[in-house]
Amino acid sequence: MTDSFLPFCRPQITQGDIDAVVDVLRSGWITTGAKTAALEQAFCELTGAQHAVAVSSATAALHLYLVAQGIGVGDEVITPSLTWVSTVNLITLVGATPVFVDIDRDNLMVSAAAIERAITPRTKLIIPVHFAGAPLDLDPIRALAAQHNIALLEDTAHALGTLYKEIPIGRGADSMFSLQAIKNVTSAEGGVFVTDNEALAAHMRRLRFHGLGVDAYDRQSQGRNPQAEVIEPGFKYNLADMCSALALNQLQRLPEINARRAELAAHYLKLLDGFSQVTPLVPPSWAHRHAWHLFVVRIEGDDAPTTRNQFIEAMKARGIACGIHFRAVHAQKYYREQHTGAPLQLPNTDWNSARICSLPLFPDMSFADVERVVATMRSVLTPE
Ligand SMILES: Cc1ncc(COP(=O)(O)O)c(C=O)c1O
Repeated sequence: MTDSFLPFCRPQITQGDIDAVVDVLRSGWITTGAKTAALEQAFCELTGAQHAVAVSSATAALHLYLVAQGIGVGDEVITPSLTWVSTVNLITLVGATPVFVDIDRDNLMVSAAAIERAITPRTKLIIPVHFAGAPLDLDPIRALAAQHNIALLEDTAHALGTLYKEIPIGRGADSMFSLQAIKNVTSAEGGVFVTDNEALAAHMRRLRFHGLGVDAYDRQSQGRNPQAEVIEPGFKYNLADMCSALALNQLQRLPEINARRAELAAHYLKLLDGFSQVTPLVPPSWAHRHAWHLFVVRIEGDDAPTTRNQFIEAMKARGIACGIHFRAVHAQKYYREQHTGAPLQLPNTDWNSARICSLPLFPDMSFADVERVVATMRSVLTPE
């Protein structure tokens, strides 16, 4: 056990990761190129998806997707409110309306039944979240989207390596993975969109680089015409090879990284068993393999959120950082002020938003670190 500061997450960077990035720096080609193409190929192999488009963040992937699908003013997009703000921000920024559905109280995910109740003739897209590394119950959600002919974009930011009924998350659906610094595999910042839709992948690829038919790497490596022209206005969301090389090297360790996370999570669950002030999430009842991106607990107490916020402060004062994933988006200033009608009925979202807390979880943690976190939680929540 150590008394040094325990961060909420520390990326695992090996000598091999550093060498991979240095090789790119020495190569003469540091932006989007062969490493990014290899990363896309690796995502296809890992998930079984037919196409992958690497971008500068999952948020960028979402933006490109909304534009490529023509979603805008007058359209509704169904999503949970207990998600990362970028989803709701982007829906709003393209002029569409976010429609929030409540989540399961104990796994924080939306169900097909909850989504179905929110569908209207204006619904153009559903963005459910595979939360904390656990999978959504996908079969009924995919069936519902297909039945209503509504696009489905799975938010797989937390779900790299997750299995649903032995099928890798990302297979057979449009999905956006994140490679941001705290994710199970990182490129510092980055994201990968996967799909089986070739035309959609090609469209997003074009939109990711200014709407040009080709990018600089295509021109260099494929001998294409350097006088590329804009086919439609696009963005600058390409991923640099420096970043791709890091994620590519880390991906080779994904099985070990996720296995270590699972061991640490199991240790937390054992130590927290019977601790009445703290309720961990309940893993889904359907068959799955968890990627343990986050270890989320709820701090019980009638006067939440003060209790949860005070808990996080007390842990910090004792050298342990915790996180909040997430504070409900509908309760944040801008969205609170925008909302006019009757108060939203999202009881499980509100209950969790006031109580959730993510404990430190990263592969280089030791069991002693987990024991220190739980011992400190006991001293904070049940002082003598
Ligand atoms: C559920 C969820 N969706 C989307 C994102 C956005 O990912 P990025 O930071 O790569 O844009 C995140 C980021 O943490 C997330 O947690």
